[in-house]
Amino acid sequence: MDEKVEHIIERDEKALGSSMKIRLFPLVAESAKQNIITDVDGKEYVDFTANWGVASTGYCHPKVVESIKKQAEKNTFSSYTTVLTESGVELAERLIELVPGDFEKKVWFGLSGSDANDCIAKMVPLATKRNRIISYFGAYHGQTMGSLSMSGHTAQAKFVGSGNVVKIPYPYCYRCAFNKNREDCKLDCLQFLEEHVFKTVCPPEDTAVIIVEAMQCDGGDVVPPAEYMEELEKICKKYGILLACDEVKIGIGRTGKLFGFEHFNLTPDAVVFGKPIASGMPLSGVVARKEVLDAGIATHLFTTAGCPVSTAAANATLDVILNEGLIQNALEMGEYI
Ligand SMILES: Cc1ncc(COP(=O)(O)O)c(C=O)c1O
Repeated sequence: MDEKVEHIIERDEKALGSSMKIRLFPLVAESAKQNIITDVDGKEYVDFTANWGVASTGYCHPKVVESIKKQAEKNTFSSYTTVLTESGVELAERLIELVPGDFEKKVWFGLSGSDANDCIAKMVPLATKRNRIISYFGAYHGQTMGSLSMSGHTAQAKFVGSGNVVKIPYPYCYRCAFNKNREDCKLDCLQFLEEHVFKTVCPPEDTAVIIVEAMQCDGGDVVPPAEYMEELEKICKKYGILLACDEVKIGIGRTGKLFGFEHFNLTPDAVVFGKPIASGMPLSGVVARKEVLDAGIATHLFTTAGCPVSTAAANATLDVILNEGLIQNALEMGEYI
């Protein structure tokens, strides 16, 4: 390890708690451009990780930087809870336009994927007057109490979450929970949902929402069979259960479509986004049926959410992703890799 890197790592070990760390390599960033991170000793790294899927526009894209600078010179902060900004409204309108669904939608802004998934955990039960939630083994929805309750990941196995969440197996055909092969299976995992889960611990008439990653990321990068997702939507419709897609990691162009669920014939009632939306400035959000996000005034809000620097960064990020061929590039590179 070079001298400066080593010294800063020693200081970090003393000063910062391990609860906020996943340290996979000794990297202390000084600057970053496009896909290159330069450390404090001048060593360059090609970033194949996109920093946990956030750096979809690369580092310091000139359009994003310009938009942040312009906004920061005017005003670095006002709380969207009370003082609205044009860039916030513009971003919300664009998201409503971009998310499919022939029904009235609204937008909620937060700071991280976790608080956005908490929005689902709180607002859908409130809106539907049904208190149960279904989520998946292997799911990762975040670290706050609502989102960790819906997660089924080993990372949160040490915590006891909220008791209203029932978890079902993800359609992971390579390691099928029902020991089936795709060829001899009749979507047994969905039969399990209807025949066992609904008939025992989670009556469908009490179930507000099923939250799913249209491709399970931290659970192993699992792509479900298309029929599963489509049948799941039918089951939701049959019982009046809302379907929420967590797009925090696969959304905003990463999979070669704007949203990962667009690989399936699916129209979710709520879409959760985060990570790359503002090129790393803190911003997350939910686009959902109007009645979900209007279910109660001041029921899920964060003081710094929707801050103008973040919404300005997000508008520029969307411009770059939509207008500079990044989605097509993701598709082509995905095929190639
Ligand atoms: C699918 C998914 N949802 C939610 C989250 C939580 O996002 P955040 O870490 O920004 O709170 C993550 C983070 O990795 C994620 O991958």
